[in-house]
Parts: sequence; structure tokens; C-alpha cells
Amino acid sequence: MDPVALEDRFCAHNYSPLPVTVVRGRGAWVEDPDGVRYLDLIAAYSALNFGHCHPRLVEVAVEQLSTLSLTSRAVHHDQLGPFCRDLAELCGTEAVLPMNTGADAIETAIKMARRWAYQVKGVGPDRATIVVCEGNFHGRTTTIVGFSSDPAAREGFGPFTPGFVQVPYGDADAVRRAVDDTTAAVLVEPIQGEAGVIVPPDGYLRALRDLCTERGVLLVADEVQTGLGRTGTTFACDHDGIRPDVYVLGKALGGGIVPISAVAADHDVLGVFTPGSHGSTFAGNPLACAIGRAVVDMLRTGEMQERSRTLGARLHAALAGLVGRGVREVRGRGLWAGIELDPELSGRAASEALLRRRVLARETHGQTLRVAPPLVIEEADLDWAVEQIAATVGSLGAR
Ligand SMILES: Cc1ncc(COP(=O)(O)O)c(C=O)c1O
Repeated sequence: MDPVALEDRFCAHNYSPLPVTVVRGRGAWVEDPDGVRYLDLIAAYSALNFGHCHPRLVEVAVEQLSTLSLTSRAVHHDQLGPFCRDLAELCGTEAVLPMNTGADAIETAIKMARRWAYQVKGVGPDRATIVVCEGNFHGRTTTIVGFSSDPAAREGFGPFTPGFVQVPYGDADAVRRAVDDTTAAVLVEPIQGEAGVIVPPDGYLRALRDLCTERGVLLVADEVQTGLGRTGTTFACDHDGIRPDVYVLGKALGGGIVPISAVAADHDVLGVFTPGSHGSTFAGNPLACAIGRAVVDMLRTGEMQERSRTLGARLHAALAGLVGRGVREVRGRGLWAGIELDPELSGRAASEALLRRRVLARETHGQTLRVAPPLVIEEADLDWAVEQIAATVGSLGAR
């Protein structure tokens, strides 16, 4: 039986992949079993910011893999301290707590904010609340989907964890009205990816920063997807010139090789965790730390951020020309775009048509095509991708 038939029979059907099987990847390109090449504009939802099989990251991975891969945190190992120092420096925070996936880093931030509210802020027992945004996407655990506004993510998974207050995204006044003496944190994506690459109004994050400082509330920025160069700066919060109290990072931190995520904050916040109160067997393992450290090192030069900025400006200028030609609106920042198709066009049909043109891109919420190539994409390949997108939306609209 071929691998897709085996997947269909033996794997749970919690995804609906495009009809293509990828067997090899390099930079921004992948290949199917027949050697047909596709340009990858999905980039594993930004986990592949540095492209497939980045030679330096692969070298670090192979070296570490053949030296020491896993210890658990029952003993010390030599990769954890240097990784935590380097990532904390990149974030401008005093410390970090490594985890594995975006969702478990968000869970970590939630637990941390609640404990901080009780121990530091003085909120009464079990009364802490966290303000979240409509349209949020922070992962798939039961607590996280419990405060999602997407019925597909929630249905059939209750009962849910209480203690979350939802407000419209991009509306700082709504957050102000929602904050009270029980508020531990405001949890926000600087740009909402899954909701369709929704960019909030300029100054939104600055307003949240000021509000949180004024009211003694933690500002928690979920930069799992926006962080590490995707939007043209190291963090998307940089666009508003702010530092949140807590960064949540993931995806690209693992260099497209291993899952590693992290919560970055100062000691007065991270310090609420004590031995036994939180952890995970694989979190902060030597292999992930070595790769994460190499990722941080690559980001330190600013080269990837610069590529995202300049190529992103080129991408957005080109996509703007499609508005009115099958495209209603283009949103985004850096090498990240949400292409809102005309209402009569289907996002799924567009991604399947793009696949026939050898371009991988996925729709979100029916109507938006997401474009997030690896930051290492070549300029000529990016231009070619935009031509394929233009031809695709043009031909779908003409039907
Ligand atoms: C903003 C954001 N937060 C959290 C997550 C969850 O990350 P993971 O899939 O690694 O659990 C995602 C994943 O897409 C995300 O985009």
C-alpha cells in the first residue's frame, strides 16, 4: 500500500492535507517522489523560517545527536544554560523556561500568570482571570480551545476551564473595560495568524503595554508564529516598540528540525515556578537546546529579519496589484501575507489550483490564502510565486 493509503487507513483524520506527498526539502523548495519540485509558501506555518534542511542547523543537529540527545531535567546537561542565556538575551528578559510545542508554552504562560496573580499581585484564591481576544489561536489543548471563538476548535470538547474573558481583537478600549482586580494577564497575538493574518491598528500593542503597566497586569505576547523574524523584526512587538512581560515562542525556534518552545520573562514572574510545580520530560533537551541556540545565533546578525523586511515589502507591493482582480484585501507584515479572496472564490480551490502550478499554500477560514515562505526564499522565486498566485486567482475568477 502506498504511504497516503496507509495514512488514510491508520492515521486519525484530524487534517485534510493537500494531495501531494513530499519526500525531500531544501531551502524554500520541496520535492515529491517523482522529483517534481514545489515552492513551499506554507513553511510548516512558520516553523521553517530558515527553510528546509538549513545546512548550519543540520550540522549542529547531527553533531549534538551523535553526542547527547536526551537527559530529562533529572540531571544537568551542558546545552541548557547557554541556550537559556542566549534566548533570554535575544528577548531582553532575565530568563526563559523551555517547553516543547506552542500549545504547552501557552499553557505554561497561563499557569505562570495565575500563580503570579495569587503570589505577587494578591488576587484571591482561584479568582484569577486572563483577558483573551476573539479570533485567537493559541493551540489545541482543552484549556486553550476552551477560550477559542472558533466552533470547529471547541465543539464536543467541553467542559472547559473557566477564568478567561474574551474581547474583540484590535480594540484596546475593550481590554481596558475587561481588566479588573482579578486580571492576571492579557494574552494576545501581535498579529492573528490563524484568523487570517489580521494586523491590529498601529499603537494597539503600545496601548496594551501602557494599560498593563498601569493596572499591574502581565502582557503576554504569543509570538509563536509572529516571532523570530517572520514579520521583518525579531518580534512583532518590535513594530510598536514595546517589550511584553512575557514572550511565548515556538515553531521556528526548533529550526524546522525539532519541537522546542519557550516562555521568556523576568525572574519576578518566572520565579513562581518551583521544583515539582511544572515541567515536561522532553523540555529543554540537549538536541533542541543546541539547535535553538544556533537559531538564536542566526537571528543575532539581523540578516533574516532584513530579508523578511525587504522581500516582504516586495511581496506586499506585488500582491497589492491583485486587489480588485479576484482579491479583496491583502494583509500582513514582512514575509507574511493573508490574501482575502473575493467572496465567490474558495480558498481550498485556490490552494489546489496553486498546487497544480507547483506552489504550496494553504487557506484559512475558507476565504484567506496564507503566504509565509521560508525567509531564505530567493527573490526570483518569490516573484515567480506571485505570478502563480495572480494567474490562479485570475483563472478561478474567470470561471
Ligand atoms: C500564535 C500561535 N500560538 C500557538 C500555536 C500552537 O503551536 P503548536 O502547534 O506548536 O502547539 C500556534 C500554532 O499554529 C500559533 O500560531
